[in-house]
Amino acid sequence: MKKLLALLAVGAMLLGLVGCSSTEKETPESTSEATTETTGAGETVKVGVSIYKFDDNFMTLYREEIESYFASLDDGNTYEVTIQDGKNDQAEQTNQIDNFIQQGYDVLIINLVQSTSAATVIDKCADADIPCVFINREPEEADMDSYDGQDYEGKFTYVGADARQSGKFQGELIADLEDKGDLNGDGVLQYVMVVGDPENVDAKYRTEFSISQYGEVSGNDVEKLDEQRGDWDQAKGQEIVANALVKYGDKIEAVFCNNDAMALGAAQAIEAAGRTVGKDIYLVGVDALDDAKDLVKEGKMTGTVLNDHVGQSHTAVDAAVKAVSGAKLDKYYWVDYVKVTQANVEEFLD
Ligand code: BGC
Repeated sequence: MKKLLALLAVGAMLLGLVGCSSTEKETPESTSEATTETTGAGETVKVGVSIYKFDDNFMTLYREEIESYFASLDDGNTYEVTIQDGKNDQAEQTNQIDNFIQQGYDVLIINLVQSTSAATVIDKCADADIPCVFINREPEEADMDSYDGQDYEGKFTYVGADARQSGKFQGELIADLEDKGDLNGDGVLQYVMVVGDPENVDAKYRTEFSISQYGEVSGNDVEKLDEQRGDWDQAKGQEIVANALVKYGDKIEAVFCNNDAMALGAAQAIEAAGRTVGKDIYLVGVDALDDAKDLVKEGKMTGTVLNDHVGQSHTAVDAAVKAVSGAKLDKYYWVDYVKVTQANVEEFLD
């Protein structure tokens, strides 16, 4: 973890950014205000943040870190940060963005409800000449390229982690096991896939790359017994895996979940069915939520992949601050995923 923090610090320095200090109010639509101490422009900067929905384990950690990192900045500016709940409703979120623009916000940080709405949001921000930092849900490449060679180029960016990498890491977590996950030794991995929200590339890539990488590294074939949409949600993950266990029983060798919330649900279903992770079934997730890390430590999950919300939120805030200063942004800022297993989980525990 220390290593990660050091990397983050370097990342922030590379972005050439600075900070200020703040106090905050916690409300459903929370606002933090930061006041200045040291040198700097001494400006008040209004930051509008919209999260696709507040009721998401991972995005809750992410948004709390956005707030606390803004509060820790010490660059002489005052950051007024308003964070709104998109309630998983694109119309609602678009309305929030319209309001931020009308109210003259200086910069937006947007976790889209639907990645396909990026084009509309980019156009609105470009018209108003307000910089925009997309997070977590990657827009289409064509949308990110849409202002190449124009004034608005370098005023919007995507900060995220490459979901292909998280998928590959999940595949490796199983392929690197002594039995390559192939409990019955038939040379084929029989698996169940629990998908997040398929509209999100994170879900798409994790579903695809976990399996292709497994095949590549292990040399085994794969047999998909079941694939269901769990919308990133723990209760849905539990239900899907409970049903699959009834239907396929001992045939299931591995359960891949696109995120940890669903893997936590899967772990409950596995335990309730009297199966034992590491002995007669394997289970992997993504995010490295605290509860998932505990399960990895206890051997109740085979592994997870750190989705570094600290690195991503700091990079997003650094990019927003940089954009406000008038400097050009890169089109993309990437933060690495990290594999977490029982062997290294201690490094990731607080
Ligand atoms: C995370 C999920 C989260 C989703 C929200 C993904 O990167 O792994 O836990 O629900 O983002 O868009």
